[in-house]
Amino acid sequence: MNTISSPLDLIQLLVGYQPAATISTASRLGLFDALTDQPQPASEIAKYLAVDDSNLEALLRALVQLGLVSHSDGEFAATPFSANYLQNNSDLDMIIRKEAFFSTAWSRLDEVVRSGHPILPPWKERLHARSSQATEFLYALDALARLTGPPLAELPELTRGRILDVGGGLGTYSRALAEAGSTTVLVDLPDVIELARDHLADLPAGSVEFVAADIFSESACGIEIESVDAALVSHMLHDYPKETGVELLRSANRAIRPGGFVVVNDFANDTGPAAFGGLFDLMMRVETGGAAHSLATLGEMLLTSGFCDVRRVAFPDPITVLIATKDS
Ligand SMILES: C[S@@+](CC[C@H](N)C(=O)[O-])C[C@H]1O[C@@H](n2cnc3c(N)ncnc32)[C@H](O)[C@@H]1O
Repeated sequence: MNTISSPLDLIQLLVGYQPAATISTASRLGLFDALTDQPQPASEIAKYLAVDDSNLEALLRALVQLGLVSHSDGEFAATPFSANYLQNNSDLDMIIRKEAFFSTAWSRLDEVVRSGHPILPPWKERLHARSSQATEFLYALDALARLTGPPLAELPELTRGRILDVGGGLGTYSRALAEAGSTTVLVDLPDVIELARDHLADLPAGSVEFVAADIFSESACGIEIESVDAALVSHMLHDYPKETGVELLRSANRAIRPGGFVVVNDFANDTGPAAFGGLFDLMMRVETGGAAHSLATLGEMLLTSGFCDVRRVAFPDPITVLIATKDS
């Protein structure tokens, strides 16, 4: 457990918002697109972006110190990393925008703690309003899963037969599992399924089946009862309180054949590194009114929804992958 024992340690935590704001500002201004591998004076970049010379130079210098811009002889250039990863609409740019959006909600954490309610409207409303933020959020999740998610396609339980991807979003894992040889059934809300169809359009026809359904209003996540060999429940349970999570797992359970498997990919509130679990838990309370559950609670949720033999796959923290077998 981390113990703060000096004012300086605390101050370092308190200014933690500054690097994030510096990076998201650079992204919003289009600075990473304006930089090339050829060094340019700040004044030239400022002219191109139509911003203030002196403050842009300060921003560039801070980015140099953060390791995202290179500097020589008073001129600034992209680093290989920023040139490769931080262009407008790149994977990391989507993640930068997602975090910038959520940082505004985090600034109202006191309201969440007082009221017991999240800051953001329910996901279905955000989706329905067709806000660009909701769409960008889905692309950011896709990028996060590809860049940092566990290699779920290496799990034998998910690569044999027909696999249900519950709330599969744009289909990051459906794609990986289909490419590993399974037939995947991607279930999500209609607006998301529309985007997922486009996103997975390059896959061979039939390797992913798309089902537009509300998993809470259908008895088996919107598919035929006992029609899949396994279900993946990835980054779903933290969106809900425990009771709703159990409801979701029961719905998935009905879709799985007896003796089949459920694989839960999530983050627990009691795993690291450092304060990751606790902060992730707070994030879910700010965003969705859900919660990151403890490892023990996740296990308990699986046992009460008709699964047995719960085991954790040995991926490094904070990745939390639990596999359980459907009671026969
Ligand atoms: C946090 S995302 C997880 C996406 C993906 N499984 C992953 O691991 O990246 C939650 C997903 O659940 C979907 N979802 C939320 N409520 C749903 C519902 N009632 N029925 C079906 N899908 C739902 C969302 O649209 C979104 O794609």
